[in-house]
Amino acid sequence: MQDKSINILGIETSCDETAAAVVADGKIVKSSVIASQTKLHEKYGGVVPELASRAHIEKIYPVIAEAIAQANVVRDDIDAIAVANQPGLTIALIVGVTAAKTLSFTWNKPLIAINHLHAHLQSAMLSEDNPQLPAVALIVSGGHTCLYDYRSSLEPLLLGSTIDDAAGEAFDKVATILKLPYPGGPSIEKAAEKGNPDAIKFPRSMLGRDSLDFSFSGIKTAVLYYCRGQNMKGQNKVDSMSEQQIADIAASFQAAVVDVLVKKTKRAADKIGANTILLGGGVAANNQLRTRLQQMCDSDVPPKKLLIAPKQYCTDNAVMVASLAYYKFKAGLFAELTLEPKATG
Ligand code: KG4
Ligand code: ZN
Repeated sequence: MQDKSINILGIETSCDETAAAVVADGKIVKSSVIASQTKLHEKYGGVVPELASRAHIEKIYPVIAEAIAQANVVRDDIDAIAVANQPGLTIALIVGVTAAKTLSFTWNKPLIAINHLHAHLQSAMLSEDNPQLPAVALIVSGGHTCLYDYRSSLEPLLLGSTIDDAAGEAFDKVATILKLPYPGGPSIEKAAEKGNPDAIKFPRSMLGRDSLDFSFSGIKTAVLYYCRGQNMKGQNKVDSMSEQQIADIAASFQAAVVDVLVKKTKRAADKIGANTILLGGGVAANNQLRTRLQQMCDSDVPPKKLLIAPKQYCTDNAVMVASLAYYKFKAGLFAELTLEPKATG
């Protein structure tokens, strides 16, 4: 019997993961391959764009070949090539975009351009067919912190975003201050397990009563001053701190960030009358955030439904790209071969 499903090859190179995946009908994950560059950037405490781009060039074709092999499909089974072309590091995005355009041209398959943030949002929808809409979507990653009014997968409406650091960036920078290993998010979460979240009262920036924007640079600076003295005039105390003191700082910082994320998400849901919350992006892997959002949803009147991206699809991957592309495929929204990467979006 002929396979009537729509198979899409997704490609993702927006930051420090080279990823490819084959997804059928937007839901059935046939393969997902990720070459992570964590080791490469570890010693710099953050992603170095030039190194990221070179590593994508090395890995892109082996990763795509592996995704096709694991999916057990051949070129003729692929219906379209999808690629995240924005937002991200332009010199990283261009590698995936060039690969996708080349395959689209040589294999004569339609090309689909995907917004990386909308794809993060889509990963929260992977296991849900009919969520009650409108929903509020919180996307928290290394580069972005955004709230969306979600009424359709094709046109999420931006309600608010960070005016300075992204939530993940704050986790990464605070981990560097505390001399915890890169990437910072998982390190802070681990250290925080043994800490007291009420030990230090770090600031919670709400930016006014109605604002749906975020600001995390203040809390990062507060942690820095706590460790180095006001205006950086004191000794760096981190080296002489006990494991418990570090754990208390990590737990108090994490609690403050989670507090703001949960309160703003509730504020957005109240504003648009949403009974469904979607959570995606790298920071969505954080257990405190997941638990606190769940508590907020359960205790609200009426209770809200929380849909969270599966952990393996919280951080960057190509499944979310191929999944979202299915809906663009069905809507006939194809890109030209002149497609360019774009830093913003
Ligand atoms: O979505 P992602 O893979 O890449 C971007 O699009 O930026 O997110 C990576 C970010 C990093 O800042 C990382 O520290 C953070 O997600 N992250 C976490 C956790 N796991 C990853 N932050 C807090 N808790 C975690 N468990
Ligand atoms: Zn991302």
